[in-house]
Amino acid sequence: MIKLYINTERNKGKIHKELYGHFAEHLGRCIYEGIFVGEDSPIPNTNGMRNDVVEALKEIKVPVLRWPGGCFADEYHWKDGIGKKENRKKMVNTNWGGVVEDNSFGTHEFMELCRQLGCENYINGNVGSGTVQEMAEWIEYMTCGGDSSLAALRRENGQEEPWKVQYFGVGNESWGCGGNMLPEYYANEYRRYQTFVRQYQNEKIYKIACGPNEADYEWTEKLMRTAGKFMDGLSLHYYTLPTGNWDKKGSATDFDVETYYVTLKKAFFMEELIRKHSEIMDKYDPEKKVGLIIDEWGTWYDVEPGTNPGFLYQQNTMRDAMAAAINLNLFNQNCGRVRMANIAQMVNVLQAMVLTEGERIVKTPSYYVFDLFKHHQDADLLESVLFGAGEIPTKEGAMPRITQSASMGKDGKIHITVANLSAEEGCTVESILSVSPQKSVKKVGGEILGGEIHDKNTFEEPEKVKKESFGAIEADKDTIRFEIPACSLVHLAVEVG
Ligand code: AHR
Repeated sequence: MIKLYINTERNKGKIHKELYGHFAEHLGRCIYEGIFVGEDSPIPNTNGMRNDVVEALKEIKVPVLRWPGGCFADEYHWKDGIGKKENRKKMVNTNWGGVVEDNSFGTHEFMELCRQLGCENYINGNVGSGTVQEMAEWIEYMTCGGDSSLAALRRENGQEEPWKVQYFGVGNESWGCGGNMLPEYYANEYRRYQTFVRQYQNEKIYKIACGPNEADYEWTEKLMRTAGKFMDGLSLHYYTLPTGNWDKKGSATDFDVETYYVTLKKAFFMEELIRKHSEIMDKYDPEKKVGLIIDEWGTWYDVEPGTNPGFLYQQNTMRDAMAAAINLNLFNQNCGRVRMANIAQMVNVLQAMVLTEGERIVKTPSYYVFDLFKHHQDADLLESVLFGAGEIPTKEGAMPRITQSASMGKDGKIHITVANLSAEEGCTVESILSVSPQKSVKKVGGEILGGEIHDKNTFEEPEKVKKESFGAIEADKDTIRFEIPACSLVHLAVEVG
């Protein structure tokens, strides 16, 4: 029997809602078609944003959205994306499929999307091919409420009040597609560019420096040493590839059980990355003022056969759901340093929440993981320890069989998310809560997402995988007992009184 002890008295810090963030790049059919169809589209929309997609995303409480890239960010010139649509400049999206970018989705449209989603904004600036002046002027255009030419231009373009910019990234992957810089060089550039991300309002813009690629600890060391004092956050990018080979990543849907486990084992590598990068950050920032911002994470496979290789369109199965559950539980458990995370990407690209085809949409298994985890947003992490869960052997070493985290929600309930990663075997979990002698478990609500490892939602069968209510729970005094089937995720909401 697997035992899960939860100390309800031990608050281990706030799980910032931004750990459940998303990322939308000008890439393939993410923005265009997936989110933005334009006001004249026959697809029902509000100010150009598809109603079905916005409604689905509101359901999972998207807390923050990163835009416009990714690699696209370092080729993006914001002035091309404002003003009358017919006058906007066209460019070739050299990173992603060489398609024409007509700039019909720009700053105003992004802010409108965030308004409709009710989420915060995270804008990524251009260091690779942009100037300090261009970046400074973008900030002024968006946030200056005073009498400046750029503020006047914003008003002319229909936005009277300045927007609040919550998060601003200074370059993306500056070690790669964002300029192939060395850490020493970028650290200096970061110091210079961020100086001109001026404050026009009382609310502080949270400045994020480009952080390491995966296990590049030297990058973190040099950035923290040279520029740590000038940043609020440092990004980290890590993608889960079943093969670890960028030229042959493997299929999203056609895989054997061993590949399923190896993929999940690779997802667990996130734990080591967080731990080791955090150790370096702790040296320079023991008070944990600088957040680790995992602003690109998720599974990455070969594109679906017959689709544009530059569009990164992939299907999504229960394997992705389990990979997402591993990551989200890890982010919760490391909420002392991890301040934000953004899955790549929101619609039609990589580990997407939603897939679209014309006017049809499907919610992916990963979507439902975010739905089950949403109760942890802004909750307090509780100490939780597993006993007897065991490990699963894979050809790349053993990995935990169960992943879990627990929090005390703003609603006063204890929220527990537990995933059984085994492809074949269910198990019984007994969760013991430290409740005071006068109190006991009063009510437990449950929901489950489960299936066979290859299960997915398609346009022909859009609801094969979906969350269901989970009632097979026994509770007495301080103990909750439940069976968790193979390859499934359970969310429990526990009331103690
Ligand atoms: O998410 C796809 C791409 O992956 C992003 O544009 C880039 O930052 C990363 O390499």
